[in-house]
Amino acid sequence: MSQALSLLKCVSCGKEFPLSDIRFTCTCGNLLDVVHDLEKLKKSFSLSRKFFEERQLRLNNQPGGGVWNFKELVLPAISEEKIISKQEGNTRLYRNRKLSQWLSVGNLFLKHEGENPTGSFKDRGMTVAVTQAKELDVKAVTCASTGNTSASLAAYASEADITGLVLIPKGNVAIGKISQALAYGAKTLVVNGDFDACMALIQDAQEKLSAYPLNSINPFRLEGQKTIVWETLMQLGWKVPDWFVFPGGNLGNTSAFGKALHEFHQLGFIDVMPRFAVIQAQGASPFYAAFKNGFKNLIPQKAETIATAIRIGNPVNYSKAVRSLQWTNGIVESVSDEEILEAKARVDSAGIGAEPSSCATVAGIRKLVGNGTIKQDETVVGILTGNILKDPQAIVDYHFNNHRPLANPPVEIEATIDDVKEFL
Ligand code: F0G
Repeated sequence: MSQALSLLKCVSCGKEFPLSDIRFTCTCGNLLDVVHDLEKLKKSFSLSRKFFEERQLRLNNQPGGGVWNFKELVLPAISEEKIISKQEGNTRLYRNRKLSQWLSVGNLFLKHEGENPTGSFKDRGMTVAVTQAKELDVKAVTCASTGNTSASLAAYASEADITGLVLIPKGNVAIGKISQALAYGAKTLVVNGDFDACMALIQDAQEKLSAYPLNSINPFRLEGQKTIVWETLMQLGWKVPDWFVFPGGNLGNTSAFGKALHEFHQLGFIDVMPRFAVIQAQGASPFYAAFKNGFKNLIPQKAETIATAIRIGNPVNYSKAVRSLQWTNGIVESVSDEEILEAKARVDSAGIGAEPSSCATVAGIRKLVGNGTIKQDETVVGILTGNILKDPQAIVDYHFNNHRPLANPPVEIEATIDDVKEFL
């Protein structure tokens, strides 16, 4: 490694580029990591578990806490006044008796990333990638999105005073998310095509129009998303759980979480690795199929699922995600839309609530406990990726359908106390 604290480095051929280069793939075509000189950083900043714990306590819910509590391992060279932040991170780690019982897991923790400023984990990546975009003096930022990235991009582009342009697949973005993109002022293009077609357009726009992409192909996004697992470890008093379970779409989180744990392991902050279980919707499960064929290859799919956030058939972070599973002895599982809907009804009625794709996590835990992969006495952290209010239509469709097992439809009554009494 050269003098720089951080570099861009190809995950395949190892070629290095300075952070100031605006590029997202290597000359060989593979993905780039932001690689930090961990030993040098550890020494220069006296990094330790205690270092992060003390700052987190001091800056809880204040600027500089959350994602930026880990600044030295995220974007060490940036000066603090240049950071574009909305105090993302510091999300709750829920315990819930009803869900523990339903899943038969005593030590169940649910980290709710839907509690971020725009209602999803994307904000953790966006604060870092938009800060870097500003540093690079880019004029316009773009993304392809199943919804949450566009909402987050729109809010952070506004904060940074950069033009935001988002591409979303026609007819397949939840109303809460598209509303946010419009409201925060991003130029919103509704594309006659699916997410994968939007993603291909974004990559083209980067080459031909110099638009700066903020999808998870942007390695700075992943640097911010690493903090989800680091924060969890701190919340658990550094006890490494047996499992991290989370949904997989474009596989940004899978990539980021693996890198986070690998780095903490290298720094000596943890001495064992948890296992990953990545959950895909059955109709959008190219990573599951690749896992089943021993990661020989990724065969893109035409994706279809009710969980629109993970309706992705050609994940851009595939090679990084495979690496994460190797680091964590990880597995991939798939769940049906019916299983996702049932899990969502359970998560919602437990008073926690999350959008459908987040509940793939919970459906996955249930399936993996059911088939004996996750043992009932193991500690399981499930990541809920997005807020319940992102997709109100999914809730209405479920609860107005009397055939659904947990349907709770509203009842119309006359304005009399007797009519009220009947329901108490
Ligand atoms: N959960 C939610 C709520 C999401 O919005 C996404 C991705 C995922 C899970 C999948 O995460 O891509 O890291 O594997 N949403 C993107 C978007 C693609 O455009 O908002 P991943």
